[in-house]
Amino acid sequence: MSEDPTLFDIIGSTRAMRRLKPDPVPDELVAKIIEAGVCAPSGANSQTWRFLVVKSPEIKRAVHAYYKRAFDELVGPHYAKSKPPPGVTPEAYARQHAAVEHLTEHFHEAPVWIVPCLLNRGSAEPKRWDGASIYPAVQNMLLAARALGLGATLTTRHLMFERETEALFGLPPGVHSYAIIPVGYPLGNYGPVKRAPISEVTYLDRWEQPFVRPS
Ligand SMILES: Cc1cc2nc3c(=O)[nH]c(=O)nc-3n(C[C@H](O)[C@H](O)[C@H](O)COP(=O)(O)O)c2cc1C
Repeated sequence: MSEDPTLFDIIGSTRAMRRLKPDPVPDELVAKIIEAGVCAPSGANSQTWRFLVVKSPEIKRAVHAYYKRAFDELVGPHYAKSKPPPGVTPEAYARQHAAVEHLTEHFHEAPVWIVPCLLNRGSAEPKRWDGASIYPAVQNMLLAARALGLGATLTTRHLMFERETEALFGLPPGVHSYAIIPVGYPLGNYGPVKRAPISEVTYLDRWEQPFVRPS
């Protein structure tokens, strides 16, 4: 990759960076990441997002207990039985497992977490588009962290204990968390990300009609 990576270089190398150094991340960089987040679209430009920056070792440790419990009770057994996803070799999948286990043990040691939240806009029933006003901001933040030489991972596992973990974050009624993004200086290397080719996942006009990429 060139000295000055393009946006596509950044996109193509923004992996889940689960092995992080404990070194602190300057608040200025955290602010830059969140600034990238709020450049994202939100429905009607409502910007009902809020971002909790968590550095307290006590709070991280308390939330970590639920993150680990969710792995031990649900995620770990599921992972152990699952097959490699499209575009991923068994060896790479084994490495992903090891990295997931590493983050499970060390989640709370990331120097800073960013917890993206949304204010509830009144609908009691969950809707398919609920997350659409926060996950674009999350992806912007992952890309910004990568561009700044930091590592980050989108995680949602704490939501298996949503009530307990949101109480630890002090979220008031009507505010919900959508992810926890542990951020730190990476121990491993960035990308390239491994995915199935777009020819396997892209159709033209009607379902299963191939979209042919010009050669
Ligand atoms: C909805 C969602 C939830 C995720 N939750 C977790 C999580 O709780 N813990 C974790 O380690 N990774 C989590 N991930 C990260 C994915 O496992 C990761 O993006 C995927 O394996 C691709 O990784 P790569 O970009 O490094 O190839 C989550 C990703 C998404 C999109």
